[in-house]
Amino acid sequence: MNASNRGKDSVDQLRIHAPAKINLHLEILGLRADGFHELAMVMQSIDLADQIEITSNTDGLIKLSIDDPNLSAGEDNLIFRAAELLRCSYGNKNLGANIYLQKNIPIGAGLAGGSTDAAATLVGLNTLWKLDLDKQQLSNLAAELGSDIPFCLEGGTQLCFGRGEKLEPVKASASSSDMAIILVKDPTVSVSTPWAYGRSKEINEKNYLKSDLAFEDRRQLLREQSWLSSFSPSDPPPLNNDLQKVVAPEVQVVQNALKALSDLPGSIGVAMSGSGPSCFALYSTYKQAKEVLARSRIKLESLGFKSWCCSFQSEGVGFDQ
Ligand code: C5P
Repeated sequence: MNASNRGKDSVDQLRIHAPAKINLHLEILGLRADGFHELAMVMQSIDLADQIEITSNTDGLIKLSIDDPNLSAGEDNLIFRAAELLRCSYGNKNLGANIYLQKNIPIGAGLAGGSTDAAATLVGLNTLWKLDLDKQQLSNLAAELGSDIPFCLEGGTQLCFGRGEKLEPVKASASSSDMAIILVKDPTVSVSTPWAYGRSKEINEKNYLKSDLAFEDRRQLLREQSWLSSFSPSDPPPLNNDLQKVVAPEVQVVQNALKALSDLPGSIGVAMSGSGPSCFALYSTYKQAKEVLARSRIKLESLGFKSWCCSFQSEGVGFDQ
């Protein structure tokens, strides 16, 4: 997180960028006592980002507006919930804010769009309301709000365990910063994350690992993967997503996306991100991904996909200069 302790100088307006993530690895280990799934993941921030603008107000109200009418700006929005949780936990009831969200990350796509907005809200309001919470305090609030939100605060390349909230940074090589993806999403289709995990449970529960010891063995196996210690285009991530195995057979658009991406030249691999339905093709360099997308965008569009060329980012949410 490059943003938790931006000076204590007086500000009444802030702009924060909130990057999306993809999953380079998503492994479901088993079920937890709290009903969530125990996961072993590698998440990667990308440069497709929402923008959040926050101004202070003195009427003690949290007001949210969004440039995308397809997204609720009500109390169910994670931005609103993040602001309320912060105010209840550390602020006082007179604190207010006007929050404006410019939505660039597709909704319901498996890219942590809602989670990264919540992370940006925590970071922004911590500064605007002069609460002075440290990284750990923000991360605890983030985990309370959603499993992916601690990652969105921190960003970069991280091993994510537990529900997804326990982070261990992956040291990326210099050449990995040039790795890039072509990302595709059918704007008319979204996938519910609880549904995707529910399907995994229905289909695979009998094969889930059952003990903490077995979970730890699998975590250690992942930590020791050679591609993680080098993390470079010469030993690229093999890409694995256990949710893809249960979502793709039932969501035709995911099969179509994976096929369309596999047909593109020069990629290292293709996979679905998170619970889908967005999918991506991995490239060694941004230049190559950009050239391939320039030649393929019209074809992808004719198949119903919106597409982006995105580079890997080494940080999560942060203040705009
Ligand atoms: O934590 P978050 O709100 O993002 O989770 C959304 C839903 O995804 C949960 O309610 C749960 O159904 C499922 N989930 C899970 N195991 C995880 C993370 C999410 O089963 N580790």
